[in-house]
Amino acid sequence: MAEKFDVVDLIRTKRDKGSLTTAEINWLIDAYTRGYVGDEQMAAFAMAVTLNGMTRDEVRDLTLAMIASGERMDFSSLGKPTVDKHSTGGVGDKITLPLMPLVASFGVAVPQLSGRGLGHTGGTLDKLESIPGWRASLTNDEIFAQLSSVGGVICAAGSGLAPADKKLYALRDITGTVEAIPLIASSIMSKKIAEGTDSLVLDVKFGSGAFMQDIALSRELAQTMVDLGNDAGVRTTALLTNMHVPLGLAIGNANEVRESVEVLAGGGPADVVELTLALASEMLRLAGQPDADVAAALKDGRAMDTWRRVIEAQGGDPDGALPTPRETMTVTAPSSGVLLRQDALSFGIAAWRLGAGRARAADPVVHAAGIDLLAKPGDTVVEGQPLFTLSGDDPARFERALESLEGAWSIGPASDYFGEAPLVAERIS
Ligand code: URA
Repeated sequence: MAEKFDVVDLIRTKRDKGSLTTAEINWLIDAYTRGYVGDEQMAAFAMAVTLNGMTRDEVRDLTLAMIASGERMDFSSLGKPTVDKHSTGGVGDKITLPLMPLVASFGVAVPQLSGRGLGHTGGTLDKLESIPGWRASLTNDEIFAQLSSVGGVICAAGSGLAPADKKLYALRDITGTVEAIPLIASSIMSKKIAEGTDSLVLDVKFGSGAFMQDIALSRELAQTMVDLGNDAGVRTTALLTNMHVPLGLAIGNANEVRESVEVLAGGGPADVVELTLALASEMLRLAGQPDADVAAALKDGRAMDTWRRVIEAQGGDPDGALPTPRETMTVTAPSSGVLLRQDALSFGIAAWRLGAGRARAADPVVHAAGIDLLAKPGDTVVEGQPLFTLSGDDPARFERALESLEGAWSIGPASDYFGEAPLVAERIS
């Protein structure tokens, strides 16, 4: 069968700052998925988009074409609203763990299809796999049954969801074309729309530990994704949130599960609680419960009950012992004063080097590896006081982790501390 278009013409159009039609984009994504368009051609196309951008219509067409490359899930027969959250990822970002059961405890279904970490940002599935017996892979029937019985699920997105994105994302990763708003937005939203949720809240981060350092770019990314979601019939809003310092005190896998359970028990670090409550309120607002008292559900154990049921439903033991590290090293304050900074990216890289993250998709993670922060910016510290503890199984990794922490934090007089910017900077709808 003759092909409808010539891929070189389409690449030239984008190279010369032109726009593609719906039919051209549909053909390109289909031809790439079936292997007619080669990786080298798609890489040239992705670079042209990275340099020259796309119109709003093109981004919508690209998203819809990637959705059409695979299956679409349908939860409409569940008989309850569905709502999901997606975070663009950050250091110490374990919010999905307390958030999913908290929102599900209000009777809405939360299909949290999640990913694994790559590079310095952690992955929700890696964290949960610290729990003995817990299983990330579920069939579509199991997902449906668990949403119906327990109300929440956190599991791996199946390979049938937006396969064109899977192929294109792997290509972007090795061709310097990840950081393009049209490509990021269509990649994230094709998977979220194909997942079949009624509503979606996006946590779009900015700051050193985030994908986008700059709030203006995060705002543009958030608005692009919110428009894509709403145009596709998914009620979508976004919170722009600060990722200059790590979230909470734990960075890693098992230690982040421990911290999440503290939050579900009514305690935990103030910033983790604040963001969990802000996202839960936003999700429940979209799901038709604007007055839900989310703080009460966290305090009175309702969210914890749902957490235990979700973990058990996926084969995990909520009371099982989490892995502990073979080696630890604690860094102490060299002088007295106020902790002025704690750079999220540097701490994320250090935890990754300790083994909490992976460099290649096939690498395993060390569940007990990571960093526990013992002080946060603004805290008064005295000389010799422990500041943070590195954990891992391999002492050889500690030196490289410490290297990435050089210059990442500092202690000074209280007059040099200007406070932290608000955690939730803006809401985009
Ligand atoms: N996450 C995705 O799923 N896709 C991107 O392009 C970036 C982050």
